[in-house]
Amino acid sequence: MARRKHRRWHTSSLKRASGSTVGKRRPGCVEGPLQIRRYNDPVLRSKALPVQEITDVERQLAADMLATMYASPIGVGLAAPQVGILKQLIVIDVDRDNPECAPLVLFNPSVQSLTGKVTGEEGCLSLPGITADVKRAATVVATAQNIDGESIQVEGENLLARALQHEIDHLNGVLFIDRISGLKRKLLRGKLRKLQQQSQL
Ligand code: NI
Repeated sequence: MARRKHRRWHTSSLKRASGSTVGKRRPGCVEGPLQIRRYNDPVLRSKALPVQEITDVERQLAADMLATMYASPIGVGLAAPQVGILKQLIVIDVDRDNPECAPLVLFNPSVQSLTGKVTGEEGCLSLPGITADVKRAATVVATAQNIDGESIQVEGENLLARALQHEIDHLNGVLFIDRISGLKRKLLRGKLRKLQQQSQL
């Protein structure tokens, strides 16, 4: 997921989440190690498969995904299908400017409960230049495995709740533009067509 930089959010819930730390932050890096797939790539519409065993291969993938996400100045989340890998793995860091806050690495995330509704602006690293207001649950409880294969529960509100829903959607081949009204999507048609043309080059 991508966010405009100037927005401020409360992210205290992230500190409660028992996420894991992998990878070093690479703030000066302009290009991540993995190529981000763009809108219209069929992999973005495919379902990711559960990760049965978390090995060094998965841990390296998580580290590379984080580095790729941090390479974009506005990236706060990334799902494995966005780098062409159909595994149920997402990484999130909604407080990326805070070095005390570890990023979340979640394998096989599963939503347990959704509460409330809130509308907020979203973007996506696979749809650069496109943003829209999306209605999502205000709070989310999800279960997952961390980088060590331990079962964890993550509670998110505000931006973390939004990022969890956005990234878990990616694992099911769903993009944020699927969650806006037909009218709003119509307004984005020109931009989407442009993206489609770019990704065919
Ligand atoms: Ni996205």
